[in-house]
Amino acid sequence: MSTHLETKRAFPWSDRFGTARITFRLMSATDAPAVRAFTRTLEPDDIIFLRMDIRQPEVINEWLENIERGRTLSVLAVNEEGGIIGYCSLHHNELLWTRHHGEIRIFVLKAYRGTGLGARLLGEVFQIAREQSLERLIVNIPRDQPHIRKMFESLGFKVDALLADWLKGQDGRLHDLLILSHEVAEG
Ligand SMILES: CC(C)(COP(=O)(O)OP(=O)(O)OC[C@H]1O[C@@H](n2cnc3c(N)ncnc32)[C@H](O)[C@@H]1OP(=O)(O)O)[C@@H](O)C(=O)NCCC(=O)NCCS
Repeated sequence: MSTHLETKRAFPWSDRFGTARITFRLMSATDAPAVRAFTRTLEPDDIIFLRMDIRQPEVINEWLENIERGRTLSVLAVNEEGGIIGYCSLHHNELLWTRHHGEIRIFVLKAYRGTGLGARLLGEVFQIAREQSLERLIVNIPRDQPHIRKMFESLGFKVDALLADWLKGQDGRLHDLLILSHEVAEG
């Protein structure tokens, strides 16, 4: 039986970002083909710093399973042709002692960056986290991506931890990990 995370937010809705009209909607298990089509367009430097290689079929299957189990809620950004061009996911596990946390993972295709789409996706996930009564949002980023850190800090996230040599990139090199967080009530 499906145990989707419920949200009172009304989806879908659309808005203009730059010259593109983008629709926001929640991802469901029926999105498997659209997700596969989206991840097929990614290049190695797109996924180099993502926590998981979302091009791998088992990663996509786990993502969809977690949506079905209510552990993940993903807001998709879709272009006028119906193609996924970005997402922001909220991961939550009520069986863990971090059950008051939601972890954010966000990605926007390069061609659509810098028009406010990432900030809007994050805003949606903040609202959903508030509805779920989560207390803290967490994001994991590599330290050597200063513009990503700057973006989250400008949205009020603060660095909680620096873990040296914690990540291994696709190229086999080690990188430091930064954990940033934001109290949901302050968002
Ligand atoms: C992080 C990411 C989603 C931002 O998406 P985006 O659509 O470009 O974000 P926005 O256009 O809403 O920009 C948000 C803010 O960050 C700033 N910003 C975004 N990209 C930036 C860059 N490359 N350099 C400097 N600032 C940047 C913007 O200026 C904006 O700040 P402002 O509100 O003060 O103007 C996108 O860069 C991405 O997908 N990166 C790869 C995946 C990743 O690193 N995810 C984070 C870890 S899960």
